[in-house]
Amino acid sequence: MCRQLVGGGFTTILTARDPERGLLAAKNAGVDFQQLDVASEHSVHAAISEIARRHTRIDVLVNNAAVHYDSWQNAADADLDIVQEALETNLLGAWRTSLATVPLMRQNGWGRIVNISSQGGSLASMGGGTPAYSVSKAGLNAFTRILASELAGTGILVNSVCPGWVATDMGGPGGRPVEAGAASVMWAILLEDDGPTGGFYRDGKPLPW
Ligand SMILES: NC(=O)c1ccc[n+]([C@@H]2O[C@H](COP(=O)([O-])OP(=O)(O)OC[C@H]3O[C@@H](n4cnc5c(N)ncnc54)[C@H](OP(=O)(O)O)[C@@H]3O)[C@@H](O)[C@H]2O)c1
Repeated sequence: MCRQLVGGGFTTILTARDPERGLLAAKNAGVDFQQLDVASEHSVHAAISEIARRHTRIDVLVNNAAVHYDSWQNAADADLDIVQEALETNLLGAWRTSLATVPLMRQNGWGRIVNISSQGGSLASMGGGTPAYSVSKAGLNAFTRILASELAGTGILVNSVCPGWVATDMGGPGGRPVEAGAASVMWAILLEDDGPTGGFYRDGKPLPW
């Protein structure tokens, strides 16, 4: 994702909660690093303040962090601690970083917020299983719609994007290459000013909610 942003001409900051691994990843991608734990109010505030201090503006926010693709449990026997952790990171993490970033985007009258969601959060096709993950992504999709509607006309476009099944740590082997998942996200970053907001997409095509 960071490499594609750099390719698009963006000054890019990779964030991660583990500074050692984050710094290494940022170095490999040729981008800046900022420590960030989206589950911590303090960390989000400190990170966004530092980025704003160094760069004066934030144009694009990619809410990518997520945990607990809980294929091992069902809603009927779920560990609610797991559900709570998933909501804390997957939903509230994106909400927190948006809260901290939107004022900066408003100042410039321009912004792109991309919430990395999943078809697992689509109510249209939702069945049993992965309850923590699916509920958190359905919540994230609702957040996308509400925020997009509230920011209509400000120059800030907010969309949910599913990267598809991607061969990452979470996706495991067999998924498509990370470059393809990242390209699905880039589409929502590179939208023209009159582009869509408040939608749910994969590879630039609408997904059912
Ligand atoms: N892979 C797929 O097939 C697939 C499909 C649909 C949607 N998605 C979505 O795509 C996004 C990226 O997933 P992925 O496949 O790359 O998963 P991943 O390999 O598990 O990576 C998730 C990343 O989120 C980070 N993270 C977790 N909690 C965090 C926190 N509190 N603060 C900051 N970072 C945190 C993790 O950091 P650590 O390394 O420190 O744990 C990890 O780097 C997620 O939103 C996921 O739901 C993935």
